[in-house]
Amino acid sequence: MQLLCFPDEEVDKGDYLLVTDRVKQRSLIVQVIDIQYANIPGILEDLLRDGISEGSLSGDEVDPFKVSSQIRVLKDTRLLVGKIRGAIENGRITRDVAWLPSRNHSHVEAMPAKLFLENLSSRHAFEIGSSHRFPHINSDLAALDGRLNIVTGRKGTGKSHLTKLLVTSLVHEGAPVVVLDVNGEYVNLGRSTDGREMHLSPKIISLIPGLNLRFSLSQVGLSTLLGTLIYALALPENSARIFSRIWRDLERQNQLTMTALGAAIANADCHESIKDALQARFNTLDDSGIFTDDARTALNLEELFRNHSTGCALVVNMKNQYSALRRIIVELLISKFTDLLSRQKLRALFLFAEEAHLYLRETYWDDVVTRMRHLGLFTTFVTNQPDTIQSSIYRQADNVFLFNFSNEHDLEIVSKVAKVDSDTIRMVVRDLPPHRCLVIGDVVANFPLVVNVRSLEIQTLGATRYFFEDALAIA
Ligand SMILES: Nc1ncnc2c1ncn2[C@@H]1O[C@H](COP(=O)(O)OP(=O)(O)OP(=O)(O)O)[C@@H](O)[C@H]1O
Ligand SMILES: [Mg+2]
Repeated sequence: MQLLCFPDEEVDKGDYLLVTDRVKQRSLIVQVIDIQYANIPGILEDLLRDGISEGSLSGDEVDPFKVSSQIRVLKDTRLLVGKIRGAIENGRITRDVAWLPSRNHSHVEAMPAKLFLENLSSRHAFEIGSSHRFPHINSDLAALDGRLNIVTGRKGTGKSHLTKLLVTSLVHEGAPVVVLDVNGEYVNLGRSTDGREMHLSPKIISLIPGLNLRFSLSQVGLSTLLGTLIYALALPENSARIFSRIWRDLERQNQLTMTALGAAIANADCHESIKDALQARFNTLDDSGIFTDDARTALNLEELFRNHSTGCALVVNMKNQYSALRRIIVELLISKFTDLLSRQKLRALFLFAEEAHLYLRETYWDDVVTRMRHLGLFTTFVTNQPDTIQSSIYRQADNVFLFNFSNEHDLEIVSKVAKVDSDTIRMVVRDLPPHRCLVIGDVVANFPLVVNVRSLEIQTLGATRYFFEDALAIA
């Protein structure tokens, strides 16, 4: 739908308008996705004439028909390109619209905040931010439950900030959350900007590989460890067979320790090349420090979740870890989580994965959408490189938070999101300033909304470090 907008009327991209047919008593809900000049015949000619004559002519302007003031208005009249998102009939919002309002008897107004926000309110509300029309936008946390979500946008636009808001809101409502944190920027979620501990603090548990993130071999189990060796450490298949044999022997003798495993590999009766391959992987695992023979120092996830039944966020700090180790950690953790979920030890788990391509195995992407989701593992992918997320994830995502992209290639990828038309994404996303995002999906009751993400009182870390202090003002 196209609408004319006069110079004294203020509209932003993303605004919702109500076009009410006064005779039929029903209204269309229209979202503005682009703002252009109205190209009225003759206006260009008039603008050109202005440009040529400016300053070169003197004297009084003769305007016998008094049209110059009207022409001035027309020059600044804008054409709004809108998408019809629904209608209000008999006081209720509907999605099926098969009619157009009369051009004679309709009037256009901004959509009243109350009407719009009522639609979003819920039992598990959290304040996501504001827009210039709606000072407080509350969204529904339950709309993240059981869902697949994506947060993406250019560098430094506020993705991690929004993720922190989602994580703290979920923990606040009692949900178990895990954050795979590649930059070590989530560890202080429980502290205020001046370093004080806040009420959420005891619920934010930072897991540091080798320190309090350690596993015993029996906890991990053969199949998970084999998967890790083959995938994260590229162990050839024939060596994997020998490894299984060694493992089973140790298991029979009740000797599943790193020390015994190291000795058994050194004494294994097999070809030298296989032994070398096994030894090299064993050394990597051993050096990583994430395996322990002392069951008391091993991380007991089941107990941890049980002790924090009123919500917690486990922040897996993978800062400064090399890539194979990150893969090992994620492999082990995901297998533990799916185990807990399938044994009903955990009802559900919200997983936030920043830059998942750095550590997530190829075959896991499909798993995340299908198998793991049915088990209760609900993932949110966060990235500044949209092409690292597989296109099937875009098509299936239930909620998408899009920050600015201006590059055509990136826009092309994010416009694959199935929940909204690609025009909306292209037109709105490329003009978004930092800290503002287009929210699509269930969290906004499927009415795409441009939101200024609210600020947080917590220490967010993760801000880019600059050499020249005054370069700080990216925004
Ligand atoms: N809504 C907001 N209100 C106030 N400050 C914000 C907001 N969003 C982001 N910031 C600040 O802007 C900076 C960049 O934000 P953030 O780290 O979330 O960006 P990012 O998109 O995750 O960047 P990168 O791609 O580098 O990870 C941070 O210092 C953050 O605290
Ligand atoms: Mg970030």
